[in-house]
Amino acid sequence: MKKLVVLSGAGISAESGISTFRDNGGLWDNFRIEDVATPEAWQRNQELVLDFYNQRRKQAATVKPNAAHYALVELEKDFDVTIITQNVDNLHEIAGSSNVIHLHGELFKSRSTKNPDLVYEMSSWELKTGDLCELGSQLRPHIVWFGEEVPMMEIAMEVTEEADIFVVVGTSLAVYPAAGLVHYVGAGKPIYIIDPAKPDISLKSNMTFIQEKATTGMEILIKNITNK
Ligand code: OAD
Repeated sequence: MKKLVVLSGAGISAESGISTFRDNGGLWDNFRIEDVATPEAWQRNQELVLDFYNQRRKQAATVKPNAAHYALVELEKDFDVTIITQNVDNLHEIAGSSNVIHLHGELFKSRSTKNPDLVYEMSSWELKTGDLCELGSQLRPHIVWFGEEVPMMEIAMEVTEEADIFVVVGTSLAVYPAAGLVHYVGAGKPIYIIDPAKPDISLKSNMTFIQEKATTGMEILIKNITNK
């Protein structure tokens, strides 16, 4: 089976009702990254950071995967599919995708502030000051904040290098190192980009830009890469 590797971003979950970050009215229009999504923010105002992710978690718990998430599950019949997602929601997993790499962490998990290997499934939407790991230290959201290492990047690069087809869907490609993954795709391998707005990338001859929302764009992609 050919290897199909997908880099997804907030745009794939937009039609499920989750805000993107950089569109008009997106999350970063209403919050400052440096207030809620950096290690310094956590040191300065833990309550604000906890509340920001509690609200995200509460909202994400109410939404459902859309046809674009399900299309990626369907593609597993024809391809060996790996999804590298920048999203912290769990809609790829709920839809049923088998191989999902979360580059920026997972909203429904918490992590020890003492030992980053201690990661816990959350049973409620709320993470509070005083919620402790088994070593007795405060739990934090299991999110990769700006300025932090991206531990899953190494594996994401390896998977990307092996891709026969690479698909970019719903990401502005504004955040590194994730955005740099397109440069790890093997020479001449086809790259499909699905987005209603052109991401910040110069289109090369092996790239096909499908200027559509994720749901419609995935249908077009499937016609392009399968006989369906
Ligand atoms: P952005 O908000 O930067 O980009 C969203 C992309 O989705 C844009 O290119 C939109 O044009 C596109 N889009 C909007 N609606 C869409 C739809 N219905 N179908 C398909 N595409 C649509 O989000 P990301 O690129 O995911 O990181 O952002 C990358 C990272 O920046 C996030 O993981 C997050 C953020 O800060 C952290 O918080 C660490």
